[in-house]
Amino acid sequence: MLELLYPLRTYLIVSGIEKPNVMTADWVTPLSFEPPMLGVAIGHKRYTNKLIKECKEFVVAVPTIELLSDVWIAGTISGAKEDKFSKLKLTPIPSKKLKVPSIKECQANLECRVVNEVETGDHTFFVGEIVASTIGDAFKDQKPDLSYRFVMHAGFGKKFTTNSDELFSP
Ligand SMILES: Cc1cc2nc3c(=O)[nH]c(=O)nc-3n(C[C@H](O)[C@H](O)[C@H](O)COP(=O)(O)O)c2cc1C
Repeated sequence: MLELLYPLRTYLIVSGIEKPNVMTADWVTPLSFEPPMLGVAIGHKRYTNKLIKECKEFVVAVPTIELLSDVWIAGTISGAKEDKFSKLKLTPIPSKKLKVPSIKECQANLECRVVNEVETGDHTFFVGEIVASTIGDAFKDQKPDLSYRFVMHAGFGKKFTTNSDELFSP
């Protein structure tokens, strides 16, 4: 049923402090302008769920399509078994305000402190206040440059698509 909401944008979620972990997530949504807040639904079985519950922080990193093979790996293996950062081309770098790192290769990193957690069936919906952010060239005018190709999940499974720079006005 939820596939009816697709295509959805795809992000990377960083969690954990001593041994940071990265996982892929489609279920990320804006929640508030002031204070800036977003939410992310993380399955109960994910290692990320355990890490966010422990450290109450996470980073939402915005990849482009060039990072697709790492996005796929981060979304198909668990950090409970393997150190994903050592397998991937993604580089953890210090965040501005959090102990959880950001990702150098991503075009934006949104640093979130957990302010609420809601159990929603088989997922936990973590509500995060965005306490800092860093941006790459894709956001240098404070809005997305659509010549950059962001990752979009076409549906459940191994098919992805991306945005075009074609614009429409109502
Ligand atoms: C494109 C894509 C999107 C995904 N979106 C989500 C999501 O929004 N929430 C979720 O809990 N899992 C999602 N997953 C599954 C997790 O990324 C996957 O189970 C991952 O291995 C969990 O890693 P971890 O155990 O290290 O936390 C997605 C996977 C892929 C490939």
